[in-house]
Amino acid sequence: MQVFITGVNGYIGAVLAPYLLQRGIEVRGLDTGYYRDGWLYSDDRSLAASPFTLNKDLRHVTEADLKGCDAVAHLAELSNDPLGQNNPAITHKINHEGSVRLAEMARNVGMQRFVYMSSCSVYGAGTGDFLDETAKPNPQTAYAECKVLVERDVGAMAAKDFSPVFLRNATAYGPSPRMRFDIVLNDLCALAWTTRRIAMVSDGSPWRPLVHILDICEAIHCALRAPADAVRGKIFNVGHDSENYRVREIAQIVASEFPGCEVSAGPPSADNRSYRVSFARIHRELPGFKCSYTARDGARQFRELFERIQFGPESYKFRAFTRLKQLNHLQATKQIDSDFFWA
Ligand SMILES: NC(=O)c1ccc[n+]([C@@H]2O[C@H](COP(=O)([O-])OP(=O)(O)OC[C@H]3O[C@@H](n4cnc5c(N)ncnc54)[C@H](O)[C@@H]3O)[C@@H](O)[C@H]2O)c1
Repeated sequence: MQVFITGVNGYIGAVLAPYLLQRGIEVRGLDTGYYRDGWLYSDDRSLAASPFTLNKDLRHVTEADLKGCDAVAHLAELSNDPLGQNNPAITHKINHEGSVRLAEMARNVGMQRFVYMSSCSVYGAGTGDFLDETAKPNPQTAYAECKVLVERDVGAMAAKDFSPVFLRNATAYGPSPRMRFDIVLNDLCALAWTTRRIAMVSDGSPWRPLVHILDICEAIHCALRAPADAVRGKIFNVGHDSENYRVREIAQIVASEFPGCEVSAGPPSADNRSYRVSFARIHRELPGFKCSYTARDGARQFRELFERIQFGPESYKFRAFTRLKQLNHLQATKQIDSDFFWA
């Protein structure tokens, strides 16, 4: 099987490509390289297998680029809530229109499987009850709205010979050479290591389900391998019921793995995103899938990594590890234009 991975140079993509290659799947990558300045560490796993990669914008992909591949794992988007809010119009162009166009091309060239990276942030502002895939989405941001629109439009293309599948990932965590410190557990671990203080930006009350980056890779792997009838047109929340935390619980887990740190809460946040999610379906219906990691494992891995690479504040603050900072920098220095194309 050969898989076309978009966003292969992103936080998840940089781990996904070697993960699939090690499991006997060939990879062709695509990425425009917004975060190419950022590479946090090198080791056997991250270097062993770099796939052939097209350095191209998603919006310029042609059917010829896809020929010869059997499936798409589509990760290339402006990918998180604050980033999407920064420029909702571009978010719609890339995330919604770009993704639907890619799916149409994949179908036109006869690819059978299209794995889409959706997000639990489609649940938006929940009540604290467990939400499953049948709950009505309540997106609070342009990013989450686009996820819902792609699920709708690409879901409508499901047919006997085209099987889109939608993975609504919980918030990811865990080491990647293309590190991101704008996601909660990664950020709190870096704060703990570099400042000895775990300062939450909110009062810590919002619910956030978490999932390890390698468990996301396994979900994609299973979604690629599954019989078409098991996945065609289906939505799966990706995570585990026991990994629903309030942000203050995440802070406590980090504190227990980074001893001697002080935990503090901020004021109640204007950000009303809070969701608690049921992950029963993926464990029941996606053949072979299980989660192997907990938030505590992730925090421990970060402590070991930070020690090994002598991680310091300059890396933590480096713009290419925080998406909004990096895109603001590329715009301010006129490296990308107002449509987010390279100048
Ligand atoms: N990280 C999470 O917590 C999380 C949670 C749920 C869903 N997801 C989804 O998973 C996917 C991957 O997330 P990630 O954390 O690796 O994101 P990321 O921002 O680290 O990586 C995205 C990659 O896509 C590339 N890209 C962006 N726009 C592009 C364009 N127009 N053309 C070509 N390449 C482009 C970027 O250069 C980057 O390398 C995204 O769709 C994201 O929404 C992520």
